[in-house]
Amino acid sequence: MDDRSDRQVLIASNRGPVSFTPSDGGAPALRRGGGGLVSGLAGVAGRAEVLWVCAALSDTDRQAAREAPGGRLDLAGHDTGGAVRMLDIPAATFRRAYNGVANSTLWFVHHLLYDTPNAPHFDARSRRDWQSYEAYNAAFADALARDAAPGARVAIQDYHLSLAPLMLRERRPDLRIAHFSHTPWAPPEYYRLLPDDLGVRVLEGILGADHAGFLADRWAEAFLDCCEAVLDAKIDRHARTVTHAGRTTRIGVHALGVDGAALRARAAEPDVAARAAALRAQVDGRRLIVRIDRTELSKNLVRGLAAYRELLANHREWHGRVVHLAFAYPSRYDLPEYRAYTEEVRRAAASIIEEFGTDTWQPLILQVEDDYPRSLAAYGLADVLLVNPIRDGMNLVAKEGPVLSERDCALVLSREAGAAAELAEDALTVNPYDVSQTAEALHRALLMPAGERAERCRRLVEAATALPPDRWFADQLAALD
Ligand code: F6P
Repeated sequence: MDDRSDRQVLIASNRGPVSFTPSDGGAPALRRGGGGLVSGLAGVAGRAEVLWVCAALSDTDRQAAREAPGGRLDLAGHDTGGAVRMLDIPAATFRRAYNGVANSTLWFVHHLLYDTPNAPHFDARSRRDWQSYEAYNAAFADALARDAAPGARVAIQDYHLSLAPLMLRERRPDLRIAHFSHTPWAPPEYYRLLPDDLGVRVLEGILGADHAGFLADRWAEAFLDCCEAVLDAKIDRHARTVTHAGRTTRIGVHALGVDGAALRARAAEPDVAARAAALRAQVDGRRLIVRIDRTELSKNLVRGLAAYRELLANHREWHGRVVHLAFAYPSRYDLPEYRAYTEEVRRAAASIIEEFGTDTWQPLILQVEDDYPRSLAAYGLADVLLVNPIRDGMNLVAKEGPVLSERDCALVLSREAGAAAELAEDALTVNPYDVSQTAEALHRALLMPAGERAERCRRLVEAATALPPDRWFADQLAALD
């Protein structure tokens, strides 16, 4: 591996391309990491010049990280390939940084998930979590500073690592550093929920990078707004730069798309075909509305189910003729909000089945488990794909679905997803809070003539595959040259 030259590329992210699960007796089993960030970067992980630095997420990961020769896992032979350094961060530090700051505070701020009854309460405990967040970011900065060749390019990913760019710059001013946000960015009036000093630290942390990337114009604009309002930084909106504390950071927008050929190849594998056959039998020739999400508050599953309920209540003609398949894979169950939300989703689903189900028709199938091949099978069978997040950095489901649909699926899409910037013209866009509008969009989507569906779906696929992950990543690196 050519890692002592300025060709070297380091990726840093919380979740890496693989994690380990305990296996009976033998060595821990390797499992592919999930989520948009990993899907986006998995394709470049195997390149010889890439080293991926990630956190150990569990005790099994921590053990594997400790046992790896020189702390480096060699994934040659595994489907992602490449070299990974998994950081053995103490469990309590990791928990406070990941759950206490990244996923409950920063995630909630950027997705506007706080409301008056659950407004944040920053106290001594939050300060302790914040110290762990700093230690967690410092562990990444230390590892990157150790591993990077002179002049190497470092691509730091997401809100878990917002302090790392500045920390790394302080340790290694020779490196070319990029930061990329996979989430939306909060507008200043909402961002200011953060205690003042922490809000400043996060912005200054990211501005330690030479280039800060976002998935959509509106998130980049919001970041500029925050830099202006919170830091009083000098903003050049035309050139998209921020100058603060004597340095200038360029701001870029790189929409992430899907690799159509790779996705179709994965969907052609036998495990997907087997699940498609089982689903076909369950659906039994009815029209199919599909949604696929993490059990995530920002994905807005409960309002999505309420919209389906309203569709059935207002349009009895669909009774017995449509099925809604809602796949939600478990996520972030360490946080009580996520556990409670999953229960709310289950209750909403049960009450729809109770209200409308008959001996011969189950109107809704909710499955809360992680089964990637089954999700791919569901895309293939979808007549309608429902993607209605309250707010989303991009949302790759909206792009994967049309690529795999064998029935030219119609897309009902929240205008608050980053993907709407590219897909809105050919989707039926909705306000995610407007349940009635969403219900009517589902109705329209089910009624859409085949010719119109085919034409819209063709254009959706074109837009979805325009910027595949390898180009998206190459653009981030090119911005450092
Ligand atoms: O940017 C959002 C993100 O970090 C993506 O990588 C992914 O879609 C999701 O959140 C995964 O979250 P987690 O790693 O907490 O399961």
